[in-house]
Amino acid sequence: MDSLLADQIQSCGYSFLPAYLPETDSVAVATALGLPLVPWEGGLVQQLTPRAIAAPNTYSGIYGLDRFPFHTDLAHWRLPPRYLLLRCRKGYAEIPTLLIDGRAIFDGAALNVMTRAIVKPRRPQNGSISLLRLCEQAGATHRFRWDEVFLVAASRTGEVAIEAVKNFISTAQPLPIALAGAGDTLIIDNWRMLHARSPIITGTEDRAIERIYLERLH
Ligand SMILES: [Fe+2]
Repeated sequence: MDSLLADQIQSCGYSFLPAYLPETDSVAVATALGLPLVPWEGGLVQQLTPRAIAAPNTYSGIYGLDRFPFHTDLAHWRLPPRYLLLRCRKGYAEIPTLLIDGRAIFDGAALNVMTRAIVKPRRPQNGSISLLRLCEQAGATHRFRWDEVFLVAASRTGEVAIEAVKNFISTAQPLPIALAGAGDTLIIDNWRMLHARSPIITGTEDRAIERIYLERLH
């Protein structure tokens, strides 16, 4: 199961496991599949619920119940988590998670621009601004980051690359995957795939998804 899963994620960028061990808690599932990481104190399991009002520097604070823009998670970190695991506690077919395969962006001719593109967090992190590459070589693969809200260009090439990615996203055909039933589990390669949440519609405000970051898969 486990190596099949890793193979599938390597070829597709994600894996969806419907109704996967619905009685088992998410930490046990994550630990069985990979190595969970704790991004901040108390952050091993993050409870994602729709919020109309939230802190102003968060997606929920900016977008509320509207669709979130496509992004990779923690893109402003020097080393964003490799995988994210989303697990449904209460879900709806009408609120799919949307995926776009970023490999098409940094494969081929665009790779050169993407790897030279320097970006920076919109706001200083702990008092300093770190310069980041939109895409960098990481072993046999690439680490791509994208967040049009929290990352801005820090070079002319950065501006060009950001425009190119925005164009790509605007014409891409996202893949919808609904975390609808208990135990539905979606594992996403966060160095490759962009994801977004669909808008929350009336009657689905009790959607509840758990998120755990993984450093690697077994
Ligand atoms: Fe996200």
